[in-house]
Amino acid sequence: MPAPAVGIDLGTTYSCIGVFKNDQVEIIANDQGNRTTPSYVAFTDTERLIGDAAKNQVAMNPVNTIFDAKRMIGRSYNDPDLQSDMKHWPFKVLVSGGKPVIQVEYQGEIKTFFPEEISAMVLVKMKEVAEAFIGETVTKAVITVPAYFNDSQRQATKDAGTIAGLEVLRIINEPTAAAIAYGMDKKNDPTKKERNVLIFDLGGGTFDVSLLTIDGGIFEVRATAGDTHLGGEDFDNRLVDYFATEFKTRCGKDLRNNARAMRRLRTACERVKRTLSSSASTNIEIDALFEGVDFFSKITRARFEEMCRDQFERCLEPVKKVLSDADVDVRAVDDVVLVGGSTRIPRIQQMVQSFFNGKEPNRSINPDEAVAYGAAVQAYVLSGGKSKQTESLLLLDVTPLSLGVETAGGVMSVLIPRNSALPCEKSQTFSTSADNQRSVEIKVYEGERPLVSQCQCLGTFTLTDIPPAPRGKPRITVSFGVNTDGILVVTAVEDSAGKSKAITITNDKGRLSREQIEKMVEEAEKFSEEDRANAERIESRNTLENYTFSLRSTMNEPDMQREVSREDLIKLQSAVDAVSAWLDENRDSTKEEYDSKVKEIEKVAHPILSAYYTKRAAQQGSGTGAAEGDQGSGPVPDEVD
Ligand SMILES: Nc1ncnc2c1ncn2[C@@H]1O[C@H](COP(=O)(O)OP(=O)(O)OP(=O)(O)O)[C@@H](O)[C@H]1O
Ligand SMILES: [Mg+2]
Repeated sequence: MPAPAVGIDLGTTYSCIGVFKNDQVEIIANDQGNRTTPSYVAFTDTERLIGDAAKNQVAMNPVNTIFDAKRMIGRSYNDPDLQSDMKHWPFKVLVSGGKPVIQVEYQGEIKTFFPEEISAMVLVKMKEVAEAFIGETVTKAVITVPAYFNDSQRQATKDAGTIAGLEVLRIINEPTAAAIAYGMDKKNDPTKKERNVLIFDLGGGTFDVSLLTIDGGIFEVRATAGDTHLGGEDFDNRLVDYFATEFKTRCGKDLRNNARAMRRLRTACERVKRTLSSSASTNIEIDALFEGVDFFSKITRARFEEMCRDQFERCLEPVKKVLSDADVDVRAVDDVVLVGGSTRIPRIQQMVQSFFNGKEPNRSINPDEAVAYGAAVQAYVLSGGKSKQTESLLLLDVTPLSLGVETAGGVMSVLIPRNSALPCEKSQTFSTSADNQRSVEIKVYEGERPLVSQCQCLGTFTLTDIPPAPRGKPRITVSFGVNTDGILVVTAVEDSAGKSKAITITNDKGRLSREQIEKMVEEAEKFSEEDRANAERIESRNTLENYTFSLRSTMNEPDMQREVSREDLIKLQSAVDAVSAWLDENRDSTKEEYDSKVKEIEKVAHPILSAYYTKRAAQQGSGTGAAEGDQGSGPVPDEVD
């Protein structure tokens, strides 16, 4: 049996993990019993929290609770989307080397983290969730990204996996993963004909549409489109704005600059939105929202739909685009699969259904779990697993955006057109423009517009070590390859002298360096170590606390009062009081100190209690004076030392 490999849906708002085991996918519940885990990380005076624990304390600690790392990952600080998102975040985002970094206070110190590191923390949490279920260390994973993620967002996601101590077997597109889940479900379909399937994935932060053909076990992505910036959180934002304005009009107070109030409002708005998916209207009630003022209001589904109308309408654009890119008619789509929590919104379902001339969208797979499900299947296949369920499964993914270089006049000259099947490669020959020129600069872009100024610059590749020669003489073949992760790989060969020689390529784009990643891997391990130590420390503190509590209640039992000498009772009482007082003063002591306090008090309590229990047992055995308090509440005289 190969080592277990997991599939992780690293979502903007929620993450989900699955593993293929015993011929089927298991979606793994976390320690709270939830099958999806909030992509939240929180830092406090004493500890780091990830997942539900982090999201649950967000209103108390808004500035040190980080979410939406997926909206930052692989973007530059100046990215207009990032700039507009920042307005909604209660935590601080600064700039470092052109990249966004998140600043928090952790254990009384100011710390900064790259988005990759925050995502890595979420990944570590997911990895631990899986390890608890599988009972083995997990090191291999397939991680999903929105199909529309560009090269640097993919690279950065892969780096996050590395920082989390995972070998990333592959980065796959979320809709493709969802299609696998759907395809597995349909595998035993007797018609066996080739089907055109449209995956409509509207999650918390991103929107993806892909058109695939599924033929037997072969999944071929025909076209993909989307919006890296459209999802449930945008709808939440509309509600937040709406109610913040209403609050202002009603009581003249602006709560927008109060992070805690905003966070409480946002949490309530997400709930309102979810409720409106099943009810036609709902209430919002928040006690002492701001400056002691309570907030109560009502909203109807129609009103909500109206305020998000433009955003909902934007969802149809990528649908049209994939159909035209793949040259498939609306009527030729066999199935429409809804994925992502936001597809539970009735208006969105209606819009999709009416666009496809009334065709019922397929709801056979769980919209929150489909992506992780497909990723788990793919992880199993890539790690060498064999099963009847996965045999003949083949993924043919495509590039989401065209890749090219800048040529004379700032023109975008495309080498690899969008929707090319992965992996793919294309070469172009370059030369020098001056005599004895030793290096050539190549500017790489992605995008669909004719001029590079309208496309996204991926970076500048500089070819160095060109042998001295008259201008135009060197022949440098640069190959652009997109690997199966959808990540661009550039290679160059110089063959002017008739023999080829590899050329060094330096890429200056804003990716973390290998050294940075290595450092982060170490830090991530250190953090996990700290978390573990912290958990142990808290456990020891709880042990001590419980021990003193139960001693107190045992001492109060009438039997105990009767049977134990006054002297011993006083001894016990003062030991318990001393420890309780010490505990009140020392909430942040070390595990060793708590453990030694346990020993200390045990030394006093143990002889007294065991004498008491022995005496009582003897009495009970001889049939006299049956205890009324009965055992159970007091500490069991466990053999210590
Ligand atoms: N019943 C519902 N009605 C409306 N929205 C819902 C409902 N249930 C969940 N959502 C929304 O779905 C979103 C989460 O969906 P999902 O878990 O698919 O996203 P994600 O994977 O975190 O994000 P992404 O795929 O964009 O990275 C949240 O915005 C949540 O509020
Ligand atoms: Mg998702």
